[in-house]
Amino acid sequence: MAQPAPVDDLTTLEMLDRDPAAVYRRLRREMPIARIAAIDRVVLTKADDAHLAKTDTAHFGSSDSTTPMQRAFGGHTLMRKDGAEHLCERAAMSGAFFERHLSGVWAAQAEEIADAVIGALPADGRVDLREALAVPLAAEFLSRVLGVGPEAVDRLFTWASALITGAMNAGFDPDIFAVSDRANEEMNRCFDHMIAHRRSQPDGSVLSTMVNAPTPLPLSQIRTNMKICIGGAIVETRDALLTMLHGLLSHPDQLRHCIATGRWMAAIEEGLRWVAPIQASPRIVQKPLVLRGIVLPVGETIMVVQGSANHDEDYWRDPHLFDIHRARVAHQSFGLGPHRCMGGDIYRCLVAAVLPRLFDRFPGLVADPAGEVTFRGFAFRGPTALPVRLV
Ligand code: HEM
Repeated sequence: MAQPAPVDDLTTLEMLDRDPAAVYRRLRREMPIARIAAIDRVVLTKADDAHLAKTDTAHFGSSDSTTPMQRAFGGHTLMRKDGAEHLCERAAMSGAFFERHLSGVWAAQAEEIADAVIGALPADGRVDLREALAVPLAAEFLSRVLGVGPEAVDRLFTWASALITGAMNAGFDPDIFAVSDRANEEMNRCFDHMIAHRRSQPDGSVLSTMVNAPTPLPLSQIRTNMKICIGGAIVETRDALLTMLHGLLSHPDQLRHCIATGRWMAAIEEGLRWVAPIQASPRIVQKPLVLRGIVLPVGETIMVVQGSANHDEDYWRDPHLFDIHRARVAHQSFGLGPHRCMGGDIYRCLVAAVLPRLFDRFPGLVADPAGEVTFRGFAFRGPTALPVRLV
């Protein structure tokens, strides 16, 4: 007989923030679909269930206009829409991610920016690669891909953080929305200025693609969907790059293999699998269903935990280990189905330019033995710092 989701009341918010992998390992074993009492959400922790929830659009939807996200983003974004409306907004920006742009303009820009940022690192000594490398790379590169102009480079992390904090403002705290409101005003001013510019001087950027489409979206949608690309790309690009570098630096044999063979792509994919930068995505049950004997009623908001799906023992051996030599099984860090990330190949394009340049310039680069690497975050996850010695 089908049952409601069992309640997991062992997990605390602190456990989710500090070591979500341990929480999900236990849940996958004991109750793969559970309501975590501390967040009052049903979570799907197995890879097959996460795959189903992202691809079975008859049973699971994304549309929700009651969350703090709509308030924080100043509108209803494509990420929380379904069906034809979602597809139309997605299509409006897809041209910026076409292969000819990826292998053409974006690859060239990634190389130029990687040269500049790596060239600006000190010749030797201790640095934190988060602030000295990952932050400027993500901000410089994505400001160009998004088309927001050089004046926005220094604002992107502040805007992204205001959007993310606002979207997670479950208590609708007005002080938190005041911060996202200010960021929204700045972003809208920036977009409006750049829209005028891109109309007369189009390029391959996301903003230019949307503005110069034969039938452009309304301004409100151009603005909110640009904010998805800021709130859902800047922090994740920084975190994914640092996670992968930490994996390599803490496994020098694997780093040596990459340097010797030039096969960096396995490290890029393994870093994404190892610690998913966006750990979980919400879905709303549209039609009742029973999964693993658990009833999921209509209207229930569930969290699809891609961070756990990527560690499912059904698919991976010793999933907690960073191992570039493991057999390739597709990870879920960019999601699946109609809302699959649009920027995955943009991320890969940047990192493919950075890695060979970084280790060419610093062949003896090592983790700082006096430093410690700590990961934090339940929804968005990455290292808080990456101290290294440049040699
Ligand atoms: C490593 C970096 C990144 C990660 C881990 C990541 C992850 C994700 C995930 C998991 C989703 C799906 C959310 C869901 O299922 O509801 C998503 C959606 C999206 N991502 Fe990314 N992302 C990254 C970088 C980027 C970049 C660089 C861009 C743009 C330049 C971007 C643009 C988008 C957009 C527009 C969507 C919404 C797609 C839709 O709703 O149809 N992302 N991302």
